[in-house]
Amino acid sequence: MQTILITGCSSSYGLETARHFLANGWNVIATMRTPREHILPRSESLRVLPLDVTSEDSIAAADEAAGPIDALVNNAGIGVVGAFEATPMAGVYTASKTAIEGLTGSVAFELAAFNIRVKLVEPGYGPTMAFTSNGESRMAGLIPEAYAPFAEPIFAAFAQPAAVTTEADVAEVVWRAANDLTGQLRFPAGPDAVALAEAR
Ligand SMILES: NC(=O)c1ccc[n+]([C@@H]2O[C@H](COP(=O)([O-])OP(=O)(O)OC[C@H]3O[C@@H](n4cnc5c(N)ncnc54)[C@H](OP(=O)(O)O)[C@@H]3O)[C@@H](O)[C@H]2O)c1
Repeated sequence: MQTILITGCSSSYGLETARHFLANGWNVIATMRTPREHILPRSESLRVLPLDVTSEDSIAAADEAAGPIDALVNNAGIGVVGAFEATPMAGVYTASKTAIEGLTGSVAFELAAFNIRVKLVEPGYGPTMAFTSNGESRMAGLIPEAYAPFAEPIFAAFAQPAAVTTEADVAEVVWRAANDLTGQLRFPAGPDAVALAEAR
């Protein structure tokens, strides 16, 4: 039986991905900043561990407690949308995601020598997720008045998206990526993400 460790399992994409792998017979180590076991199905294949991905001590403790794993899903993240000049440097969402894309491609190349496969799952916009509401307080004041005419149609489009991503879309694509042997690096998840990938 294979073992997967998933970060940020307290809600939305991470939570559903943990459920998906449990339902499909994997051992799941679901990590959360504040462990809440009851939000996942009771199972002998499940372990819930504390993990804050910004704390080196927490990472070391989770690594030690987890033991060997077959797959790792780096899902934990925070949401921030706003004009660059109004955004605190620690919270520049798009830049950090772009950095992860580059890093993932490079690490995939390096780790192939050790027979470790690295994949990039790129979810689309999930308006039903806690992600948006979780980010609301962080985003307050990040659209200065001068940006309002530019930002208004963008937020209007967020309110009425042509296509959106669900938790199940992401969980299914993480499953496909974890089991993929073809060498594919990028896996868009959700119809809007697939359309964006095809348009690039
Ligand atoms: N929803 C979307 O539209 C969307 C689109 C594209 C990509 N994504 C990406 O999908 C991933 C999951 O987002 P989601 O939509 O599922 O949002 P979410 O419901 O807000 O989940 C984010 C998870 O990350 C955890 N987290 C935040 N900071 C953490 C830290 N320092 N250490 C450990 N865990 C931490 C949160 O835990 P707490 O409960 O402790 O805060 C939560 O479990 C993120 O990387 C996000 O960037 C989301």
